[in-house]
Amino acid sequence: MISDPDILAAYHAEMRGIHYRHARNRAAWRPHLQATRQVILEAVAACPERNSVAILGSGPLFDVPLQALMAAFGRVVLVDVAHPWRVRLRAALTPRVSLLDADLTGIGGMLSPGMAVPAPPDLPALRSADLVISLNLMSQLAYVPVSQLERRGQAEAEGDLFAGALVRAHLDWLRRLPGRVCLVTDIRRIVLDADGKTIGEIDPLYGLSLPEGGTEWDWDIAPIGEMAPDYAVRHRVRGYSDLPKG
Ligand SMILES: C[S@@+](CC[C@H](N)C(=O)[O-])C[C@H]1O[C@@H](n2cnc3c(N)ncnc32)[C@H](O)[C@@H]1O
Repeated sequence: MISDPDILAAYHAEMRGIHYRHARNRAAWRPHLQATRQVILEAVAACPERNSVAILGSGPLFDVPLQALMAAFGRVVLVDVAHPWRVRLRAALTPRVSLLDADLTGIGGMLSPGMAVPAPPDLPALRSADLVISLNLMSQLAYVPVSQLERRGQAEAEGDLFAGALVRAHLDWLRRLPGRVCLVTDIRRIVLDADGKTIGEIDPLYGLSLPEGGTEWDWDIAPIGEMAPDYAVRHRVRGYSDLPKG
């Protein structure tokens, strides 16, 4: 849980941003949401034990095939640092679906410039899950902590190192979990001009190399007009239905 109200408010502001962006770009997001659900369904189909499944970064559930997960598993655990109230209500009314409020970086709102990256939390519900799904979360892990650290005076270069270490810690931690792991993450952000020509690229994983394999697709997260009238942003996304153990 996040102890600092300003940091918790920053996570909730991000969540509202996702809601509004989705509402404005439903058609552009649809192929990505379908491709994500497809990778999850492949992970479920290949999962022999089906007592529980945990979804990390479940958020507003846009990319979660909840009915299919409920049909397949005895228990569904939704894990997020800032569950939207609609999801809280839905979980309260749905037997076998539970919510876990957790900061998966392990920071828990205790930010101070120059700090080392902590170990991700040791959560019994994740250790015992037959399937853990890290869902369009990995590249987001650093956003709020680094922007808050910079507000507290941390230099940008240090912020990048901190962000890279957070992302690496998440991947290493996922690869050591006992159950099967499904990972969906953006691996590249591409800036396109109004003619669809690439004018810039950003590495959202700060130089982290992912294991071989998985399937890839594009997510037109911000078509022309969403962020600016003269450029669009596209994410290249990779999904592993069975992330190799590390
Ligand atoms: C890009 S959104 C994806 C949301 C969801 N999978 C969907 O598309 O409906 C990233 C999610 O990760 C959550 N998140 C970000 N940092 C987190 C952290 N440190 N621990 C747990 N969840 C976090 C956000 O609150 C948000 O719900």
